[in-house]
Amino acid sequence: MEKKRPHIITLPKITDPRGNLTFVEEGKHLPFGIARVYWTYDVPAGEVRGSHSHHVAEELIIATSGSFNVNLFDGCKTETYTLNRPFEGLYVPPGYWRTLDNFSSGSVCMVLTSIPYSEDDYVRYYDEFIRLATQTE
Ligand code: TYD
Repeated sequence: MEKKRPHIITLPKITDPRGNLTFVEEGKHLPFGIARVYWTYDVPAGEVRGSHSHHVAEELIIATSGSFNVNLFDGCKTETYTLNRPFEGLYVPPGYWRTLDNFSSGSVCMVLTSIPYSEDDYVRYYDEFIRLATQTE
């Protein structure tokens, strides 16, 4: 089976002089079903979030306000995505070590996730991530 790769998903955008509107529908705009939504906000300047990988969870990360960087490491190389458009999301498959940094003041990071919260799905130790990434290559 072909390995799933990170990519930007452009969501529908209804432009309107009253303000724009974006939406996302399961089965239409995403390669996974939505089991959970969480968001981080009030992130202090210079702070780093994330620093983990997932065994199974697929995610779509959206900067619903402001901007931040998502750095994705597959065990070989890192790709950095700057998110700053509320109608774009970064699809992140399992198996990528992610750090989020460079948060602008007032930014909101919303994440749509394919599974309910489970600590068992997290790889929180970098050494373990490297071991797993090397195994599957
Ligand atoms: P953490 O994974 O450190 O956040 P991030 O990766 O976005 O920087 O999560 C912080 C805490 O919140 C941790 O104790 C787990 C808890 N948490 C939940 O209870 N439910 C959730 O859906 C998420 C994402 C985290």
